[in-house]
Amino acid sequence: MTPLPRLAILLSGRGSNMEAIVREVQGGILQGVCEVAVVVSNEPEAAGLGVADALGVPTIVEPSRGRPRSAFGEALLEALDPFSPDLLVLAGFMLVLPPGVVRAYAHRIVNIHPADTRLHRGLHGYAWAWENQLPETRITVHWVDEGLDTGPVIAQAPVDLRQARDLAEVERRGLAVEHRFYSEVLRGLFTGTGSRSD
Ligand code: GAR
Repeated sequence: MTPLPRLAILLSGRGSNMEAIVREVQGGILQGVCEVAVVVSNEPEAAGLGVADALGVPTIVEPSRGRPRSAFGEALLEALDPFSPDLLVLAGFMLVLPPGVVRAYAHRIVNIHPADTRLHRGLHGYAWAWENQLPETRITVHWVDEGLDTGPVIAQAPVDLRQARDLAEVERRGLAVEHRFYSEVLRGLFTGTGSRSD
């Protein structure tokens, strides 16, 4: 049997996107499509580590704080190596990856961003949509290059924000789309089907 493509999921915090992907791998639209080899956090206290652990996925911590970027990048590459990932999946990973990592995994890193990356890059994508009273925002899954959310867009999904009462509701609606959409896009990358880009 051909081995399935292996994901390394990188996060820094809560890990709800990671959880959604692992659940799809374990019993949903990603079952038999790919496997999650490891979950990596640059934050030792990230809640997502416990979530991954409870789901039976190996975890590693590679701290980024107080370390030169290049040293972090080298340590991350070394830590990833034994897991032989085919694709790095950034899911709430709140750092710009060091250039050495981007080069080592060229065209093999994807990210999810809670806004249209052509309109808003960096942090606080939902606060930006809320403050600007947008009727709709667009979740973006894109390839990762050396910039901050500058890589080529793979697919986008709309989030209806009309009548949202507060930022918490904007986030809730957005995350519901993210959780479904990221796995759909991954499935599309591996099988050539199943991703929406409306
Ligand atoms: C998600 O909304 C993700 O799109 C966003 O952080 C959140 C992580 O949540 N990412 C970015 O803003 C990256 N620029 P999670 O840890 O529960 O998946």
